[in-house]
Amino acid sequence: MQSGRGGARVGADAIFVSRSVGTNRNVFGSMATFQTLPGFREFYPDVLARRNHIFRLWRQTAHTFGFAEYDAPVLEPLELYKTKSGDEIEAQLFSFTDKGGREVALRPEMTPTVCRLVGDKAATLKRPIKWFSIAEFYRYERMQKGRGRCFFQFNADIFGEPGVEAETELIALLAQCLCSFGLTEHDFYIRLSDRNLWFYYLEALGLDEARVRGVLTAVDRYEKLGDDAFKAYAEQFGALSDELKGKILAFLQVKSLAALEATVAAVGGDKLAARLSDWRKLLGNLDAMGLSRFVEVDLGVVRGLAYYTGFVFEAFDRKGELRALAGGGRYDNLVGKLGYAELPAVGFAIGDMTFALLLEQRGLMPTLVQAPDVYAVIGGEKERLAAFADIHALRASGFRVDYPMKEIAFGKQFKAAAESGAKLALIYGGDELAKGVVKIRNLADRSELEVPKAQLHATVRDFLSHD
Ligand code: HAM
Repeated sequence: MQSGRGGARVGADAIFVSRSVGTNRNVFGSMATFQTLPGFREFYPDVLARRNHIFRLWRQTAHTFGFAEYDAPVLEPLELYKTKSGDEIEAQLFSFTDKGGREVALRPEMTPTVCRLVGDKAATLKRPIKWFSIAEFYRYERMQKGRGRCFFQFNADIFGEPGVEAETELIALLAQCLCSFGLTEHDFYIRLSDRNLWFYYLEALGLDEARVRGVLTAVDRYEKLGDDAFKAYAEQFGALSDELKGKILAFLQVKSLAALEATVAAVGGDKLAARLSDWRKLLGNLDAMGLSRFVEVDLGVVRGLAYYTGFVFEAFDRKGELRALAGGGRYDNLVGKLGYAELPAVGFAIGDMTFALLLEQRGLMPTLVQAPDVYAVIGGEKERLAAFADIHALRASGFRVDYPMKEIAFGKQFKAAAESGAKLALIYGGDELAKGVVKIRNLADRSELEVPKAQLHATVRDFLSHD
């Protein structure tokens, strides 16, 4: 596999865009032209190899954190998302009535589904419940850079842990899922906020629950819309006084623990004070893990989804050029709302589209993820039979081996070997066959070595393990 900063880059949209026009022969043999549905993607092998590479590292990272993988249906009862996911997602559902008259929807997210899985078996599941999945989702969204109508997410969630230990573990996992590709604190950061703190603060300022929710919706849209974000609130509850709005905007701009402490001290109250100690503990934990460099206090994030109850967080690229890479938070009421016993929960999801864009921008997207280890360059028919024995034995030992299916000129074979991305070429010519050896060429520096056939396996293994 080849990757790394400064390495070969692939076209910016190689992994994301749907093929706008495809051609196919229909059953009568004439050419028919089809299009993918807008926002849907096809994955040719080179693109799929890159997607698999991303999934492989996410999966590996989740395993290093002790998370177990699960899967679930792609089609769900529509009811699962109604009111639970929030207005925005509800408006974006791909939903229809099936042949049995059921109202169904393609899943737009995993969170309600994983709550059902866990809620159903909560009594028998070993705690802590640390689960992850990699799956495809569907949202009928306006298409833009990094946003499609079908996309993949890596979801990770912890159930049954009410304390900040769960947030610690998940924010650490989120950071590591990005760092394992070579991204650093110069490439991304995680904005950390808290819906509880917002609730306590706005309550202390005299707002009831409905008004608090109205303000949070405005805060969620403030970055995009500016002052217009408060229009819907004003229509429903009347305009906020200048003093109140000033206090809300000041809170929204809090960007450090010190600023948070000062603002909260000015308002007072036990709930706010207790919540600040959760903040200190969480930030202390993350600092001890060496993750402070990724995490920024930012009360401007409140998350649009309806079910979040406490700490919320979103990951963004540092340059601010792309949409959110990931988002998540605590949702202690959702399992209960689905009809199961209450169970605290925290989780997040990373989307594949913005993430792949960021890797490509930083030159961290591998270009040759499915390169063979070795490529056999073969003379004639007699040499081919000798090569076959070695090729099959090497493959059976787990080496990736390729060779030309038909007899072609040596020059063309060497070209194919170089283009394949293999590290070694095994050369089976008439001379080698006569001497009972295989010539091994290091394709990086073109150095060559002849080894007796019996030593081929050990030599290839040693070379590849030191490479
Ligand atoms: P979300 O913020 O809706 O959260 O999505 C998480 C990530 O999925 C986004 O940051 C983005 O990278 C990606 N994403 C969302 N919509 C699209 C789209 N239309 N096209 C491409 N990528 C997209 C959730 O989905 C929560 N269920 C996450 C969660 C898990 N919360 C708790 N556990």
